[in-house]
Amino acid sequence: MEFSDFGSKLSSHSGILQLMDDIGRPLPEGVKARPLGGGNPARVKDVEKVYRRELEKLLADGDRFEDVIAHYDSPQGRVGFLETAAGFFRSRYGWDITAENIALANGSQSAMFYIFNLFSGQTGRRKQTILFPLMPEYIGYADQGIEKDSFASIPSKCVYYDDRTFKYFLDMDAVSAYLGAHPEVGAMAVSRPTNPSGNVLTDDEIRKLASLAREHSIPLIVDNAYGLPFPDIVFTDDAEPVWNEDIILSMSLSKIGLPSIRTGIVIARRDIAKAVGSINAIAALATGSMGPVLTEDLLRTGELTRLAEDVVRPFYKAKAERAEAMIRKHFEGTEYHLHRIEGSIFCWIYLPSLTIPTMEFYSILMKEGVITVPGEYFFFGSEEQRRGEGYPHEHYDRCLRLNYSGDDALTEEGIAIIAGLYRKHSR
Ligand SMILES: Cc1ncc(COP(=O)(O)O)c(C=O)c1O
Repeated sequence: MEFSDFGSKLSSHSGILQLMDDIGRPLPEGVKARPLGGGNPARVKDVEKVYRRELEKLLADGDRFEDVIAHYDSPQGRVGFLETAAGFFRSRYGWDITAENIALANGSQSAMFYIFNLFSGQTGRRKQTILFPLMPEYIGYADQGIEKDSFASIPSKCVYYDDRTFKYFLDMDAVSAYLGAHPEVGAMAVSRPTNPSGNVLTDDEIRKLASLAREHSIPLIVDNAYGLPFPDIVFTDDAEPVWNEDIILSMSLSKIGLPSIRTGIVIARRDIAKAVGSINAIAALATGSMGPVLTEDLLRTGELTRLAEDVVRPFYKAKAERAEAMIRKHFEGTEYHLHRIEGSIFCWIYLPSLTIPTMEFYSILMKEGVITVPGEYFFFGSEEQRRGEGYPHEHYDRCLRLNYSGDDALTEEGIAIIAGLYRKHSR
């Protein structure tokens, strides 16, 4: 028996596998868990109540529930939901779209996998790549290219501020130069807000990337899993939802309370949305119906976006502020830098005095029950890495990603332990 290249690549160790494994695997007997790892969102009571109400409505409506569970939806997704979503984005943002511009997927993770492989790998003319213009980027992309070496990236620039925060910026000249020298780039991709750093690319930065993409006749993929208008885990003022025919926008219902229901929403040119639907048919026949059914009315009436704005964003904003205060308190006196938390559910902390790589530090923390994600996994797509030299960014093996959305007391315990062990392993 021998696995194919595809089989070997997708079944080998990956950061995202470790992260999802860490979420589900119990710790050794007697070790108390402080879960700051994976990307699980918080349980938000006022959001849960709304989904319960929608489900009760469905159950009370004759045999509608049985009808929903007894049929496959179409490969591009539940038609009524696609129409509602198109109507919502058309009337709210003036986007020139219809249901044909939208495709659903079983989670935006699957959607990104499909999209990356639509635009990377061998074509009739050459081998195409995806360019990530702002590294570090989401761990969950790192191993999604089916063909080897189909991802490239540009290290982010970094500005440090006096208050121990820092922020990543696009190196626009480097992005432009790379695109000029590499006609094999088939698409560019960013997450906005960025996982892991919590950076939020401004409207202006997105416009510049989109116009570069247009210049090179490639799409800009924007992963909006934490973004606007839902779940709206965005704390800055200069970010609007953006879409045009040069942009492939990927959205998700996960961070607005439905991670287990697996619903990704792709808005793109019609031929691209259709291609996503075609891959759905081959890979999954259809997409799940429950996410669309539970949220269609909420989207139509504006309740989903109101929930995002009035409940979800303030909830995470308050949590982010508390997490930052905990970090400031416990890391006081150490050499640390915290990325400005502009959005997402993560803190990204740079520990320059660490004497060991964060991959090793992660294992030490794990023994104390503190689950984090080591930074190395968020840097990928460089020539240097392919040569075994690590990623060319000073943050490469000196950052940790912490999910701040869990229980505050456990988050604080975890942060206190990390700070204590950082002191022990500092230069
Ligand atoms: C940036 C980003 N994109 C996509 C996903 C995938 O989310 P889902 O498949 O649950 O929609 C995540 C999950 O954490 C994420 O952080």
